Parts: sequence; C-alpha cells; structure tokens
Amino acid sequence: MAVRIIGTGSSLPGNIVDNRALSRFVDTSDEWIRERTGIGERHISTGETVVSLSAEACERALENAGRDAGEVELLLVATCSPERNIPCAACQVQSRIGAGKAVAFDLNAACSGFLFALHTACAYVEAGMYANALVAGGEVLSKLVDWTDRGTCILFGDGAGAVYVEKADRGGILGYVQHSDGARGNVLTCDTRGLKNPYADFSLETAYIQMDGREVFSFAMRTVPAGILEVLEKTRIPKEDIDLFLLHQANQRIIDGIARRLNVDPGRFPSNVSRVGNMSSASIPVLLDELNRKGALKEGMKLALSGFGAGLTYGACVMEW
Ligand code: ACO
Repeated sequence: MAVRIIGTGSSLPGNIVDNRALSRFVDTSDEWIRERTGIGERHISTGETVVSLSAEACERALENAGRDAGEVELLLVATCSPERNIPCAACQVQSRIGAGKAVAFDLNAACSGFLFALHTACAYVEAGMYANALVAGGEVLSKLVDWTDRGTCILFGDGAGAVYVEKADRGGILGYVQHSDGARGNVLTCDTRGLKNPYADFSLETAYIQMDGREVFSFAMRTVPAGILEVLEKTRIPKEDIDLFLLHQANQRIIDGIARRLNVDPGRFPSNVSRVGNMSSASIPVLLDELNRKGALKEGMKLALSGFGAGLTYGACVMEW
C-alpha cells in the first residue's frame, strides 16, 4: 500500500522585508546577504502566528485535494516556534479548521520537522491506523531571532506549508530515511525561558537562535548528499531518474553545493530561498506547494525531498508524484 500526497497548500505573512530594509537596523548589505545566502527578501509576521499560518495552509491543502476537514484522521504540525507550549499548535489548528475527528499533535525536529512529520504520517497510514493525514510545517522564527545579531536575523522568514496524504494503490512515497545526532546539537540552539520556581532560578532574559554557521554549513554538505544517496539505494532508484530534488531551503550556497556533490544539474534543484529565506520546517512544504500550483509537478515524476537542521537531524524521502 502506498501513501500519496493528494493536495498542497501554503500561507505566508503579507509583510515582505528585503535586505535593504534589514540594513537599516543591523550592519549588513544586500550584496553580503545575497552573495553568502542567495536570500533577497523574506516574509515577516506582523501578527500572523504558527497556528493562523498553518491553519490557512491546511485549508488550502484540503481544498487542493478536494477533501473536507471533517474527514481528516491525523493532523501533525511540525514547528519549533509555537506561540504556546500547551495546547499544541496541531490541536489549535484542528479547532480552527474543524477537523474534529483528527488526532492532532506537534512534532519538533527543527528544519527536518516537516519531513519527519510526513514520515510519521506515512508510518501510521501504512500501519493501517489512519486512512489519511494532514501534515503542516509552520514557523514564526522572527520571534526567536535576535534582531541585533546580523549573523542570524538575515537568514530566517515566517510561513507555513501543508500537504494532505492518503493511502493509494500506487506511486506516492516510495521510501524514507531519517537520522539524529544529538551529540552535536550545540551548533544550533534556541533556549526556552529557563527554570524558575521556589527552589531554582535559572531564568533567561533572552532565548534567541544561536548558530555556528560554518559548522551547520559543513554538516549540511556532508549529511544531505549521504541521506539522499541512502534513500535512493534503499528504493533502488538511480539519481538520474529523479526529476526534482526539493531540499530544505537553508541557503542557496548549500543547495548549489549539494547539487555539485551529487553531480546533478543544479536546474533540478528548485529554490525559493531568494524570496522567502529559511523558514525551517515550512521550507519544503511551501516549495512543494509553489511547484504544484504552477503545474511543475507532473503525474509520475520522481521527487527526492531532503530536510536537515537543528538536533542535529536530517532525513530524505523519494516519492512518485
Ligand atoms: N552582514 C555583513 N557581515 C556579516 C553578516 C551580515 N549579515 N553576518 C556576519 N558578517 C560578518 C562576520 O561578522 C564576519 O566578520 P569578521 O570577519 O570581521 O569577524 C564575516 O562576516 C564572516 O562571518 P562568518 O560567520 O564567518 O561568515 P560565513 O562566510 O560563514 O557566512 C553564513 C555566514 C551565511 C551563516 C554561513 O556560515 C552559512 O551559510 N552557514 C550555514 C548556516 C545556515 O544556513 N543556517 C541556517 C539555519 S540552520 C538550517 O536551516 C539547517
């Protein structure tokens, strides 16, 4: 039995911030940001939340699939920037879209989150526990970023993407792999508010994203090609048969470097990072939705998806569209 994406959706805040706007409050330039990252602009929330963005993306995915929210059996939201610790974002999305029958919970694997959630949904559906799932990746990273730190605030954007999957007779997700390396987790972190109770006070004034950019870069260059080759070997599909490689949109230099390492034409690596920046778990589903809506995904095409990020985590899957 196969698990197939039937519909996609996405939602981005209306406020678009270009590099020149950033250079008004940190010492940076459009040239520096474009040259190092390929990013030209990003969408930054003026009030949109992980829940509002994810709910809109989910509604659009359902509409695209021609399905009703009441039919959804499993609803997963991948996020590392929810507004609330409890209830989880997925339960709030469930309530907003009226998916009353669904079991809903969140999953945090940072930039690998959407793929890990998609694989989780697949495993549930393959096991026969649920017949379908809505899987969203939503982030408002702008609230986790230190807007005085030019090394990180230029990288990230806000948004959400979602897919609706169902069991199918053929095609769909052909195989997946995922890995975690917690021992190297300190290269990319964001703390919560700390411990404060009558017995201890380790409260933090700030809880911002901190990153060793060079380490993250070399982690991505090493693990992403390996993860893609692993899933290709597992599914016995040669890389030449993959029509498109959809990577987590961390930055253009990483995407180009991975294409080079795999010795694959960079034209087969679609990218939207110049317009939306790095949206962590939202990156892959937003890109997928953009491609789907412009008709770039034809039935029978083979896609390789790869996510990588904090944890450290990385994973990949291959699907037939
Ligand atoms: N504008 C201008 N100068 C800057 C900026 C900026 N926005 N940011 C840093 N600099 C300066 C630094 O201060 C430093 O100056 P110095 O030499 O005087 O000390 C100089 O530029 C070089 O800084 P580096 O941090 O060494 O720059 P690097 O070439 O490594 O580029 C970057 C930084 C773009 C973050 C790079 O390391 C990278 O792409 N890393 C990958 C990390 C990534 O994409 N993370 C995304 C989140 S994680 C994920 O999604 C998986």
